[in-house]
Amino acid sequence: MDKELISTVNKLQDALATAGPASNPIDLPQITVVGSQSSGKSSVLENIVGRDFLPRGTGIVTRRPLVLQLINRRPTDELGAQKDVSGERTNETNEDEWGEFLHLPGKKFHDFNEIRNEIVRETDAKTGKNLGISSVPINLRIYSPHVLTLTLVDLPGLTKVPVGDQPKDIERQIREMVLKFVSSPNAIILSVTAANTDLANSDGLKLAREVDPEGARTVGVLTKIDLMDQGTDVIDILAGRVIPLRYGYVPVINRGQKDITSNKSIKAALEYEKDFFENHPSYKAKAQYCGTPYLAKKLNNILMLHIKATLPDIKARIDKTLHKYRTELDQLGPSTLGSSSSIVLNMITEFCNEYRAVLDGKGQEVTSLEL
Ligand code: GDP
Ligand code: NA
Ligand code: MG
Repeated sequence: MDKELISTVNKLQDALATAGPASNPIDLPQITVVGSQSSGKSSVLENIVGRDFLPRGTGIVTRRPLVLQLINRRPTDELGAQKDVSGERTNETNEDEWGEFLHLPGKKFHDFNEIRNEIVRETDAKTGKNLGISSVPINLRIYSPHVLTLTLVDLPGLTKVPVGDQPKDIERQIREMVLKFVSSPNAIILSVTAANTDLANSDGLKLAREVDPEGARTVGVLTKIDLMDQGTDVIDILAGRVIPLRYGYVPVINRGQKDITSNKSIKAALEYEKDFFENHPSYKAKAQYCGTPYLAKKLNNILMLHIKATLPDIKARIDKTLHKYRTELDQLGPSTLGSSSSIVLNMITEFCNEYRAVLDGKGQEVTSLEL
């Protein structure tokens, strides 16, 4: 039932994105990923999704925002539609999982390498090849039985030094782009910091504190636990004794550059991560609160809490939007019926109605979710 709410949020986001940024009146909750360049943001996202599909590397690889909708979907939901014309199932492993870009509607990407190629192609299409950046998002949905229903936004890493033909003010440009996404009170901030760097100097955390001083919508992620000096750990940070966050920190281990070169699978990486925490003297007592699977569960719960907390506000804005579009539709009159603008308006109205219906069902419900 919570899935129903998030899936409606996702549909509404699509409808509004189709109508263009100017007509996006509703700020929907989503999880934004921020941190320094190469802190491991894209690696964290990949581990949550459980598939290799994001361009990664040591430089500025993510140069446009990526709005990533994960949709949990049981393999039997649409079995008929998944069969090809001959009625045979083609690729057993990839059949149940695919990606679809908003800019390529109807095209299902079952090969996750092709998803990565398309992200690279679309990034270059809007930014050129000079390592420039663009704030125009790429919208990607991933349908899979192995993910939790979540919407995540990957953002370019915060950086100080321009490289290649980047403008001198690249730091400011990226900061402004990231700020645009995280400033919304509806954004849940996933702040990524490498554990082998000083938390007090964390760009992601500094930026998060600017827009969320109470830490009321910030989740800390500590990557590269495996690269910490022997005898050191992040226990003080986890216990809230360094920079406390209401939602706390989750330590994770992603694949290192060597693992990438040797093609280590995500599955093997997750097993390694689990083993590491379960056997490490500092973490083994609290191993169930460490690692990527716990982070994914925690994010889903926080997203639900957040949507519920903002229900009254979202409802009010949807009512206002609905009224505005109804008025516009009326003014267009019957002669324009079928024109593209009225189709878009109809679509938005429809989704607003649907969204409100789901929200109304949620209004009375008081749930305390375990984080
Ligand atoms: P982003 O720039 O923040 O998106 O970072 P990436 O996910 O592209 O990672 C940057 C580099 O750090 C890559 O070479 C990764 O292999 C490496 N890396 C990321 N997380 C970890 C980790 O937990 N452990 C180790 N050993 N390497 C990591
Ligand atoms: Na990087
Ligand atoms: Mg990245």
